[in-house]
Amino acid sequence: MSTEFLDLPQLISAGGTVRLPGSKSISNRVLLLAALAEGATEVRDLLASDDTERMLDALKTLGVGVASLGGENWTITGCGGHFPVRQAELFLGNAGTAFRPLTAALALAGGDYVLKGVARMHERPIGDLVDGLRQLGADISYLGNDGFPPLQLKPAAIQPGGVVKVRGDVSSQFLTGLLMALPLTGETVAVDVVGELISKPYIEITLAIMARFGVVVERDGWQRFTVKAGSRYVSPGTIYVEGDASSASYFLALGAIGGGPVRVEGVGSESIQGDVKFAEALAQMGAVITTGPNWMEARAPQGGLVAVDLDCNHIPDAAMTLATAALFARGTTTLRNIASWRVKETDRIAAMATELKKLGAEVEEGADYIRVTPASLQPAAIDTYDDHRMAMCFSLAAFGTPLRINDPKCVGKTFPDYFACFAKVSKAAPVIAIDGPSASGKGTVAARVAAALGYDYLDSGALYRLTALAAQKAGVDWADESGVAAIATRLDAEFTAGDIRLNGELVGDSIRTEEISAGASKVAALPAVRDALLFRQRTFNRAPGLIGDGRDMGSVVFPQAPLKVFLTASAEARAERRYKQLIEKGFSANLADLLLDLQQRDERDSQRSVAPLRQEADAKLLDTTGLTIEQAVNQVLAWSKEAM
Ligand code: DC
Repeated sequence: MSTEFLDLPQLISAGGTVRLPGSKSISNRVLLLAALAEGATEVRDLLASDDTERMLDALKTLGVGVASLGGENWTITGCGGHFPVRQAELFLGNAGTAFRPLTAALALAGGDYVLKGVARMHERPIGDLVDGLRQLGADISYLGNDGFPPLQLKPAAIQPGGVVKVRGDVSSQFLTGLLMALPLTGETVAVDVVGELISKPYIEITLAIMARFGVVVERDGWQRFTVKAGSRYVSPGTIYVEGDASSASYFLALGAIGGGPVRVEGVGSESIQGDVKFAEALAQMGAVITTGPNWMEARAPQGGLVAVDLDCNHIPDAAMTLATAALFARGTTTLRNIASWRVKETDRIAAMATELKKLGAEVEEGADYIRVTPASLQPAAIDTYDDHRMAMCFSLAAFGTPLRINDPKCVGKTFPDYFACFAKVSKAAPVIAIDGPSASGKGTVAARVAAALGYDYLDSGALYRLTALAAQKAGVDWADESGVAAIATRLDAEFTAGDIRLNGELVGDSIRTEEISAGASKVAALPAVRDALLFRQRTFNRAPGLIGDGRDMGSVVFPQAPLKVFLTASAEARAERRYKQLIEKGFSANLADLLLDLQQRDERDSQRSVAPLRQEADAKLLDTTGLTIEQAVNQVLAWSKEAM
């Protein structure tokens, strides 16, 4: 798994407008039908993502004309059902919306093909589709495990006509793939669905897009679908891809939790996507929803969201968003009839339960349901299982706690810009970053500014001091990078109302001695120690706001801080302040030694290779050499008024 992560601060509100990327489901269906059609199709507003790239690459490999028109617009020159390249190996990543329909189309079009994907794709069932295609005479064999990709397709005599039976209760993508390929047989074929058809709205999307390309499927309830002899795909000329309704769900939920209104553009009441029904589910939780033909908007209700008990079979993807929205709804939310979650990008029921529990929520999972009871949330590092929707859903949890999202780039499957859009419409708890050298007075100033604003205060230096102290107690040398980093990772430190505890015991001034000051400066120069303390520092970024004091608050820990202050004073003034402090506390001190010590520590803090102390380009300089504490505090407060 990638070691990349994204740390989200706690959010305090949401509002604004997002233009949605194109729908994944529509994009890949349109691409395939445009490829199978006669004539050229101009496809506008296509989703730019991993899954559509896999489909575009596959079509190019098969000899279909694929030309970029710039932006998200493409011309696909169809092959009238006969792919020019009859022998190829296709790699389809983890794109179910490419793998299933291409399997069906290539099996019926005829040719010698191998279809592969990533390891997870090879764990996602495809046997029901293969069984359906074999009933028509297709020659398909499994190259790995029976019932799963990779697949080998061989030319075969297709025997059309009659009735094909296909299971509908595992994934609706089997029926979609089969239906889209049937016109290639040229004859009348009926498909009987065995078992209760799930995710019906996705079949409606399939039928609507087939109709745009000139093939009307006769539908008898949800049991029998018939494609008539002579059906063939014809380009509609230009086709626009709707915005992605599943992607809309995150922003609607943001508005419903964070106040709103948050508006999404690209889908609305005229959408053909079933996931627009997510808005109704959110309304049942109390959200205030308004819609237009191609937009939707959500606001939080007075008094907050309430739990629901819902059958989610019609909105399997968007329902994941309800699971994290449930963290902010009064009562226990139950999402039912979601067995298909278990065969998606990952086992989504298990993954959702595991990660929700990390945040402190109470979760119960069953074969086809999940039940979530909110709790006061705690920071956690959330794993995303190479599943874009896990990453996007869990961004909502940031309303309850700062959190870390591991491998955030997995959103590229359907929404590469997700986190940029998310940042645009959400407001984080503010941070004032105050950096500067030792004894510049920033601790005193920071604590007073925090008290004046009612914000929390992070004394990040204390974390390095605690690490040095804990290492000393454990007999770990301050130069032993991995040893000290292990101590930093496990550091049992607690900050409450000015008191600091290590392993439950008050530390008092034991972290302020000259010895520990020197140790802190040494361990702070070790990259692994800084990494180990990074997320812990960021978890202080909670509502209503934070003052962070240290050396790298503005440069590394809170680079997004709306106000950064570089607070300093001459070395002599600082040595004198430190001298007075020590004498007042009853320690003995020597001014000349203190000055030398300070200069050495300044040197080490500013010359080290990781996160050196320096004034950031966007930080305001506050030289307190000739200022009283009051004056310094007032200056920071004045700047904070301007910045927030
Ligand atoms: O601010 P302080 O004197 O309590 O910091 C103790 C040591 O920790 C000091 O040598 C610098 C280091 N430090 C750091 O490297 N990064 C921070 N954000 C805070 C402190």
